[in-house]
Amino acid sequence: MKTQVAIIGGGPSGLLLGQLLQRAGISNVILERQTPDYVRGRIRAGVLEQGMVELLRKAGVGERMDAEGLVHAGVEIAANGQRVHIDLAGLTGGKTVMIYGQTEVTRDLMAARQASGASTFYEASEVALHGLDSHQPWVTFNHNGQAQRLDCDYIAGCDGFHGVARQAIPADVLKVFERVYPFGWLGVLADTPPVNEELVYAAHPRGFALCSMRSPTRTRYYVQVAAGEQVQDWSDERFWDELKTRLPQDLAARLVTGPAIEKSIAPLRSFVAEPMQHGRLFLVGDAAHIVPPTGAKGLNLAASDVSTLFDILEQVYQHGRTDLLAQYSPTCLRRVWKAERFSWWMTSMLHQFPELDAFSQRIRDTELDYFLSSEAGRRTLAENYVGLPYEKLV
Ligand code: APR
Ligand code: PHB
Repeated sequence: MKTQVAIIGGGPSGLLLGQLLQRAGISNVILERQTPDYVRGRIRAGVLEQGMVELLRKAGVGERMDAEGLVHAGVEIAANGQRVHIDLAGLTGGKTVMIYGQTEVTRDLMAARQASGASTFYEASEVALHGLDSHQPWVTFNHNGQAQRLDCDYIAGCDGFHGVARQAIPADVLKVFERVYPFGWLGVLADTPPVNEELVYAAHPRGFALCSMRSPTRTRYYVQVAAGEQVQDWSDERFWDELKTRLPQDLAARLVTGPAIEKSIAPLRSFVAEPMQHGRLFLVGDAAHIVPPTGAKGLNLAASDVSTLFDILEQVYQHGRTDLLAQYSPTCLRRVWKAERFSWWMTSMLHQFPELDAFSQRIRDTELDYFLSSEAGRRTLAENYVGLPYEKLV
């Protein structure tokens, strides 16, 4: 088999890149380890920056998002029993975010790919990358018990944090930056009306809590839990009690509870692999970087990587601009590190850390107080939350 771009991984990164390439007449094949149902069923975050919203529209998959997504012009931060409104639109010259679950984005992209007739191999196993330093790389894999070979011009490694693409970069070339946090998020999905019109990020002495939503009838709530906590130790009742304890009283009083339709614990991690390119391989999304979910940046960073790679590949195929390929990694990393910084900062400011000394604890509390009470502070928060501009190629 032969294609122009081999895409490893059919999550949001691989699907969105494939869709943009397809519409630009650039052939591509997606190799995905899991089944379509597994990919569709994953529950992830749900806040889209305006840049990602525009990219989804450009890719021709914005219709259901525009009909069903909820546009939010603000977000709340609660601390010490007080609720502070961050006027995202007012502080950023009118920018907003879109509440639309990653699950829905994935569904729309999968439907569009199926309609386009582009080729996807689900349940592809033993995916291996070859000839990255040559002009003709290739990928081998197993499908339905048959060994397959896919020849291509370029490989996009969109296979997430646990994928194989990053491992194909020689260890002496790859530099890894990492921080693992001593806690995780316990998340519950429930068919209950949201407790508040806007998302609420709550700092509390017992730990962080977040009230998010998927629709006017479906909520997604989280509480910070210590590393090593087991989900089976958290009954629905215990979860709701803990969430109520951490919310300001007026919100706790009107919180509607219900049976959890999904409950899971996710660890928190910051991670960046540099460079994001090696020869003809380009790492995209979670394959190259992870952020803790506190700023809702993971999916949005994947989208900005996709946008940068697509812009370059379009120039390569339409105008022979192979000189631009070397710009992929530095261009992406500028934006990646800014989102890493924001996500680390929000995490540090809003969570309880088990080993903070008394001075650090006061500084942390004061930092939150300062950023919430100063308009300049709120503007900084808002500017990052709605998403910094996509970096330009130079
Ligand atoms: N071979 C083929 N496919 C693979 C392999 C492999 N060896 N390893 C992983 N995959 C697939 C996974 O099954 C998954 O479908 O690659 C896909 C990667 O998808 P994600 O992990 O969702 O990563 P990405 O597409 O970059 O999505 C952006 O940002 O912060 C997050 O929640 C956010 O998941 C979202 C991500
Ligand atoms: C979510 O809705 O799952 C969500 C929202 C905001 C975040 C993280 C997760 O910062």
